[in-house]
Amino acid sequence: MAVRETWATRIGFILAAVGSAVGLGNVWRFPFLTAESGGAAFLVAYLVLVLLIGLPVMLVEFVVGRRTKHNVVGAFEELGGSNWRLVGGLGAFAGFVILSYYSVVGGWVIQYLIASVTGAYTANPEAYFGSASVGMNAVLFDALFMAFVVGIVALGVRDGIERAAKFMIPGVVLLLIGLAAYGSTLPGADDGYAFYLSPDTSTIVTDAVGLLPDAAGQAFFTLSLGMGVMITYSSYLGEDRNLLSDGLIILVADTSIALLSGLVVFPFLFAMGVDPGDGGPGTVFVSLAGAFAELPAGRVVGAVFFLMLFLAALTSAFSIMEVVVAFVTETFDVDRKPATVGLGVVIFLVGVPTALDLAILDVYDVLANQVLLIGGGLLLAIFGGWVYSAGALEEFTTGMTGGDRLGTAWIWFLRVPVVLVLAFVLYNGFGAT
Ligand code: PFF
Ligand code: NA
Repeated sequence: MAVRETWATRIGFILAAVGSAVGLGNVWRFPFLTAESGGAAFLVAYLVLVLLIGLPVMLVEFVVGRRTKHNVVGAFEELGGSNWRLVGGLGAFAGFVILSYYSVVGGWVIQYLIASVTGAYTANPEAYFGSASVGMNAVLFDALFMAFVVGIVALGVRDGIERAAKFMIPGVVLLLIGLAAYGSTLPGADDGYAFYLSPDTSTIVTDAVGLLPDAAGQAFFTLSLGMGVMITYSSYLGEDRNLLSDGLIILVADTSIALLSGLVVFPFLFAMGVDPGDGGPGTVFVSLAGAFAELPAGRVVGAVFFLMLFLAALTSAFSIMEVVVAFVTETFDVDRKPATVGLGVVIFLVGVPTALDLAILDVYDVLANQVLLIGGGLLLAIFGGWVYSAGALEEFTTGMTGGDRLGTAWIWFLRVPVVLVLAFVLYNGFGAT
């Protein structure tokens, strides 16, 4: 087998991991979930979970990946034996499910990018969403989106994923900042910010507790946790650096971009008098298209918005694809290029039902977020906290000065609070499916 690749630079790794984290989850899922769940209380639950549950689990993934330098399945097998292999397999399975519908939404984004230029959604945004989101168009553009993903991932870790992330992620950030600045000039901006940022403090704590399951699903989804993306990406680390600081950078970048997306999306929605509480995956598309159809220079702004979203979605899709590609190329004796193409076709086929029926897309989304990622996260916490804690601690402190206390606190945090919260959320998630 060929020599295993590594990232060319540390910043390349960080950008690729931020690229994985930042995606449709930040710009599409986060605003609609926040809106559906009543705004600021959700935000609070989400922020707490990202920090207290997301970060510890991300560190387990880093430790497992960097220590073994294997794909998800191989990594768990090396450290935990053949039973834990199954857990790696669950991660790869989650990759199939998530990428299969993620790429469908990616296909919507391509259609909206084109439609912003041609003006196709201007007359009737509602009807446009109907024709773009299900049926033939959805299937075709899903295939197109997958072709981009396959094209880049087939080039490899350095020449494909790392190189693409290096220009795509700065592009996403710049475009988002521009859009937020434009949004602040709109008449609905103040109402949008108020809805988003001023909690009803009298009920916020009880509201936030009720929102824990959704917020936990979103926290894992947005950070790309629970299915081995961070295991796979950290398995390509060449040198041993401080994993905690890398994790913090990724977390802060992802959270800032989600918050920034809210500052973009809500002013647009309120400028159009849309009630964001009407919710659903279509809201963001329908109401934003409605806004772009009417605002001054709206179509240019729309094109910029959907271009940004396209780049963000692509870099996330690369990471999901890489989990599966690394697993297949390292387990069976196949080369990267044919493996990537073949897997791309399989994933596309798995996703076809979600391109034909929005209710099915929703089922995949709930299954992925509330069961697969949370279940994966729970198993990762058990693994890091109880099964492989000594090795995890050693790997955590490698590349860091004096991390012993912090590392021990991390292990205990995994053992009890993280495990309990995720078990509770998973139990709820089974109720939801
Ligand atoms: N983190 C990505 C987003 O927020 O859009 C989605 C994602 C990527 C989820 C990779 C899960 C994953 F493994
Ligand atoms: Na994200």
